[in-house]
Amino acid sequence: MLTSRLFLFVFLSSFVITVLGNLEQVNDTDLEKLIANEKFVIVLFREETCQGCDELEGQLSSIREDLVDALNAWVVKAVSSPLVSNFTAGKEVGKPLVVYFRHGVPLLYDGPLNDEIMLETFVQNKEAAVSHLNDDSFEHLTQAASGATTGDWFVMFYRDDSEPCMKFLAKWEYIASQLKGRINLAKVNIKDDGISTGSRFGVDQVPAFLFFRQGKIFNYDLPKLDSKAFQDFALGWYKNVPSKNVPSPKTPFDELVDRAVFMLKENPLLLPAAGIAFILILMAVGFNAWKSRKPEKPTKTKKSVKKSN
Ligand SMILES: *[C@@H]1O[C@H](CO)[C@@H](O)[C@H](O)[C@H]1NC(C)=O
Ligand SMILES: *[C@@H]1O[C@H](CO)[C@@H](O)[C@H](O)[C@H]1NC(C)=O
Repeated sequence: MLTSRLFLFVFLSSFVITVLGNLEQVNDTDLEKLIANEKFVIVLFREETCQGCDELEGQLSSIREDLVDALNAWVVKAVSSPLVSNFTAGKEVGKPLVVYFRHGVPLLYDGPLNDEIMLETFVQNKEAAVSHLNDDSFEHLTQAASGATTGDWFVMFYRDDSEPCMKFLAKWEYIASQLKGRINLAKVNIKDDGISTGSRFGVDQVPAFLFFRQGKIFNYDLPKLDSKAFQDFALGWYKNVPSKNVPSPKTPFDELVDRAVFMLKENPLLLPAAGIAFILILMAVGFNAWKSRKPEKPTKTKKSVKKSN
């Protein structure tokens, strides 16, 4: 009697744990829809069986109610989804990942796998924390050259056609969440609206990470790309690397030249065309100069006569 009750109890509680421990599973079509349409979506990317996956799913399930209450968030899982490759590279493949989308902007959770800490991280980071800077806003917002009052800036220079860069942005958001209130994090797209800023700081490899503090630049060129290393760098480790002075901002004319040079570098096929255009311009200028040597015929200026009625 007792043993059968015990058995029933064990059976029921394991049943309850299994049910509670499961997140709703979505396919990729539905996942993309959720991310596009919902304010807050938390996704566990996992394989059917993998190390640590069930435990992580259990932890997320245990805070699901709180996340719904606090954020009205969707908490779902995607199993063996190819979309996970948006966030992983190389040896990370196969590990479960938690990605937090806020209005579509992903944050790759890279902290301790602890339910309380995850809950706190999600609730406290409802907004994307990485600022997008471009050639117009960079100097104004960072005051990098003057080293003035806007605080320290850690800036990721990237290109939107570089896969490693695009994969890293979600982790950059996590790093920003961890440094919030102390260090400003930003990103500059050196292939788009940040061409001239990239050229100003001599960025030719991406991703590049520059730390701006009091008129100085510290280059993060450590091989480590884990969140903790970036945080440590910004919070003091930068002192161990050589610094450079911030070059003065570019003039609008410099920016124009930078963009033209960038375009030619990116499209070498344009080079002959640009050469021909240059020669044509020279010829036109030369022709005008030659023409203006000839005495010009005096031209009569016709005055329009108003008819007076
Ligand atoms: C994804 O799931 C939804 C139901 O949730 C279904 O209507 C849809 O056909 C599924 N799409 C694919 C590609 O399996
Ligand atoms: C994955 O990346 C592609 C291409 O950048 C994008 O269209 C898609 O929305 C991303 N999906 C997720 C879930 O991040």
